[in-house]
Amino acid sequence: MFEINALSDAVGAEIVGLDLAQPLDDDTFGRVHQAHLDHQVLVFRDQEITPEQHIAFSRRFGDLSGHVYEQFLLSGHPEILKVSNKKTPEGDFVGLNSAGRRWHSDLSYAEIPSLGSLLYALEIPPSGGDTLFNNMYSAYETLPQMTKDRIAGLKAEFLIGSARKYYTENERPALTSEQLASVPSVEHPVVRTHPESGRKALYVNSAHTVRILGIDNAEAEDLLTELTEHSVKPEFVYRHKWQLHDLVFWDNRCCMHIAEPPPEGANRHMHRTTVVGDRPY
Ligand SMILES: [Fe+2]
Repeated sequence: MFEINALSDAVGAEIVGLDLAQPLDDDTFGRVHQAHLDHQVLVFRDQEITPEQHIAFSRRFGDLSGHVYEQFLLSGHPEILKVSNKKTPEGDFVGLNSAGRRWHSDLSYAEIPSLGSLLYALEIPPSGGDTLFNNMYSAYETLPQMTKDRIAGLKAEFLIGSARKYYTENERPALTSEQLASVPSVEHPVVRTHPESGRKALYVNSAHTVRILGIDNAEAEDLLTELTEHSVKPEFVYRHKWQLHDLVFWDNRCCMHIAEPPPEGANRHMHRTTVVGDRPY
């Protein structure tokens, strides 16, 4: 039996005393699944897992997706995206550097976005390189009724952040024309209903949401700013300070996250799997 300890009032719980290198029986898995729905972000401490075990645990939650940056997928295990600031002897990044420097939900730019992501810390800096997570249920629920009425039924356009030129060539390579063509912009609701909890969550973010559709452009821009600023108020946010061998599993359907850069010269090297979700509604 393992412990579940809440990490903040916003989101997040740590799981202590569970070994993900071993297959989980159905009862244990059921408890983990429920804890994930309840806390939205789970931090599994002290995991010593191979890529195969990381993939096997992730697959319990659904199919896994690749990534548009296929050059950063782990050799022999294309289900794993390397998130890293380390460089090869030739000076190229070994993984996706500068991942998530704006608040976002993984793959919200995809037609079928992600259920959740599982990020495993293989090397962490002595300090810094934190990841912050927010609670998009709370963000929605605390909106004024007038705003809830105004955004009910609205849709927004989403596009991958790299296509929006947020990153310099030093931070991450530009997408090739083939990669860009594989991620055309898509439409999703501004407010989505979580398919498992039935609760409503805000879904727009400042990395991938281009505009809110169906209203005047200037008004849409103001509304998007209002929603994205509201959703990351401190009371909705948990700051995760990584420990070595943490595996963090967050729910992309009701959370956003943002990664802070590690200090100059310190390595931050992680493996991510990404579980395929549902079309938002
Ligand atoms: Fe991310």
